[in-house]
Amino acid sequence: MAKLLIEGGNRLRGKVNISGFKNAALAIIPATILTGSVCVVENLPVIQDVIVYQDILKKLGGEASLSDSGTMVIDTSKIQACNLPNGLTKKLRASYYLLGAGLGRFKEVTISYPGGCDIGLRPIDQHVKGLEALGAVFEVNDGLIKVSAEKLIGNKIYLDVVSVGATINIMMAAVFAEGKTVIENAAKEPHVVDTANFLNAMGANIRGAGTDVIRITGVQELHGGTYSVIPDQVEAGTYMIASAVTKGDLIINNIIPKHLEPVTAKLKEMGMSIEEYGDSLRVHYEKELVPVNIKTLPYPGFPTDLQQPMTVLLSTVKGESIVIESIFENRFRYIEELHKMGANIKVEGRVAAISGIEKLKSAEVKATDLRAGAALVVACLAAEGVSTVHDIYHIDRGYEFIENKFMNLGAKIRRVEDDEENSAEMIR
Ligand code: UD1
Repeated sequence: MAKLLIEGGNRLRGKVNISGFKNAALAIIPATILTGSVCVVENLPVIQDVIVYQDILKKLGGEASLSDSGTMVIDTSKIQACNLPNGLTKKLRASYYLLGAGLGRFKEVTISYPGGCDIGLRPIDQHVKGLEALGAVFEVNDGLIKVSAEKLIGNKIYLDVVSVGATINIMMAAVFAEGKTVIENAAKEPHVVDTANFLNAMGANIRGAGTDVIRITGVQELHGGTYSVIPDQVEAGTYMIASAVTKGDLIINNIIPKHLEPVTAKLKEMGMSIEEYGDSLRVHYEKELVPVNIKTLPYPGFPTDLQQPMTVLLSTVKGESIVIESIFENRFRYIEELHKMGANIKVEGRVAAISGIEKLKSAEVKATDLRAGAALVVACLAAEGVSTVHDIYHIDRGYEFIENKFMNLGAKIRRVEDDEENSAEMIR
């Protein structure tokens, strides 16, 4: 296993190119199953979760090859069924999209329960509710989910909670459902829109993605084609926050600034200077930052996936801040690691009360999940001295070339194997 050695205290400067959006990629790759054709998906991040999905498609009998530049050529024509009871689906959360995509094309799916970050209960009752409304029948036994339908028929579905996964899953299953499906209280996240755009480009009829009512009219078939995934706003937000925490000056390239508005607004409120240039942002530190309060919300609210790096930043800002995590009930576990770095944060349920300190100190810390791992990297970049981040396999699931990108911005960071002798000299 590998770890990251980081010597903090350097102001980050320079340009960083943002990769394709993990969460959109992990919906669009399984959506290719619906096409039963050849699809070329471009601008994919070359990350562990994408590689796992490539393996899933191959295990199902499809063909998928991923280039170093993030283009995957996928042929799902030879897939005969969507049965994967062998546990591969436990490696990531987004394997739940096999339910909607497989049901849409084959009317039957069997998979092991999805895995992913341990950040709360993460029920899938809304996925089940939506798919059942279209005519599907679920059986859950020994960690295996089996879903089947004689026929899928469009219906009106009101989601009790705004769920990205449920919205996309229902949208996928409804592509071939007879008649009209309406999803109300749908999630509005950019990857919901990107998945709808992909499916429409392949012949689907989906209207309203990006609003809270999505209307899908069933079609007979989809075709193949080429599609480019949107940029990763979570990765971009992580670099924006890293600029703030290191008092840096970064140009963040290849982004859609609109998707970053909740982060941009908060960083500006804190005193960061942010300028927009078409598909890039300059994020630079000019004056002492002030504390703010944050509550995570579905898009276009402040994203839960950036709650952790934002908490790191606030832990270094003089004064008191409050962070409320309203999406996932168990997303503060990394704060124990931040305490090792001297952070003054008290957690009570879903609320973190932060009393900013002048500087974090170096420590040995452990990534507890994907976004927490990235947040700890950000914390170490700001801390005095040499820190170590362990269990970085979590980070590799979602961040492309993280150490190279930070190194190019002037960070002192190096990946070493756990059993490798290491010293501070290695990162200088
Ligand atoms: C997706 C993202 C994740 C992001 C999250 C919220 C992927 C692979 N993951 O996760 O990075 O943090 O959206 O933006 O795209 N819920 C239910 N019942 C359900 C489904 C969800 O109660 O059937 C609850 C969840 O527990 C959570 C909330 O709804 O409290 C939002 O979850 P959801 O949007 O579904 O998140 P994920 O799809 O798991």
